[in-house]
Amino acid sequence: MPLPDARTLVETAYAKVNLALHVRERRADGYHALESLFAFARDGDLLAAELTDDGEVRLQVDGPFGAALDAGADNLVTMAARLLQQHTGEERGAVITLTKNLPIASGIGGGSADAAAALRLLNRLWDARLPAAELEQLGLALGSDVPACISSVTQMVRGRGEILEQRDVKALVGMPMLLVNPGVPLSTARVFKGWDRQDRGPLDVQGLDDVITGGRNDLEASAMEVAPIIAQVLGFLKDQRGVRLARMSGSGATCFALFDDAVDRSAVAKALLSQGGDWWIMETEIR
Ligand code: C5P
Repeated sequence: MPLPDARTLVETAYAKVNLALHVRERRADGYHALESLFAFARDGDLLAAELTDDGEVRLQVDGPFGAALDAGADNLVTMAARLLQQHTGEERGAVITLTKNLPIASGIGGGSADAAAALRLLNRLWDARLPAAELEQLGLALGSDVPACISSVTQMVRGRGEILEQRDVKALVGMPMLLVNPGVPLSTARVFKGWDRQDRGPLDVQGLDDVITGGRNDLEASAMEVAPIIAQVLGFLKDQRGVRLARMSGSGATCFALFDDAVDRSAVAKALLSQGGDWWIMETEIR
């Protein structure tokens, strides 16, 4: 049970987008060597936690996509909590509520962002005071995208996801963004397996124009083979007024569009809604 005077602490698990994702090589360990510019939305899942004194970690899940998620021991949030307990020798527990606003297995890092947010949250709740770099190291054991999700700021990510370099791309901060998911969950492992093993070259990012003109998502083709509807989403977005860039995020199927003007973003969101389809959309901006 929560302690009587328990404070509730909260964290946002910010949605991740890969503004560009270059796959360079399949490594001997089965992972792929990446070069990716990660950015984060101002919105995402929500985590709340209360302190308990019995050492147990209890997770409850609600929100629009909560029903699709298992709240058991293999949930990444529970795993993150256990990992932090082991690492610090923490003997108290927590009741954690995850409000799942982001679609599952959708390329915007929902699970990874949740795990990272859980590490940040419990680091505070248990007063462990681990520095961010240590949380990033811990997070890698939970998933390749977890380290980058600890800071959730724009950064170049290399290796399998553990080499992080923050990037101050000022033009990006506050940039209106639309996320669109056609409702087909994709397995990251499967999409990586379908990569054609063609190294199309490095990612060199100085500014936003480099992301737009020199950036790619090398997993688009493989993801489209599994879910051809992604081509439809991208085709639609690329045709819309005011879209600076439309691209798939991660291993899909969520695609994002960047705009200079929030009015254009809302017009595209409205057009999608008025079509009455069941695509999930989120109007947000880069944090
Ligand atoms: O690390 P994570 O569990 O998120 O990765 C899920 C799967 O995605 C891995 O098992 C692997 O097949 C694939 N992957 C990869 N290269 C990466 C990251 C993930 O091949 N850099």
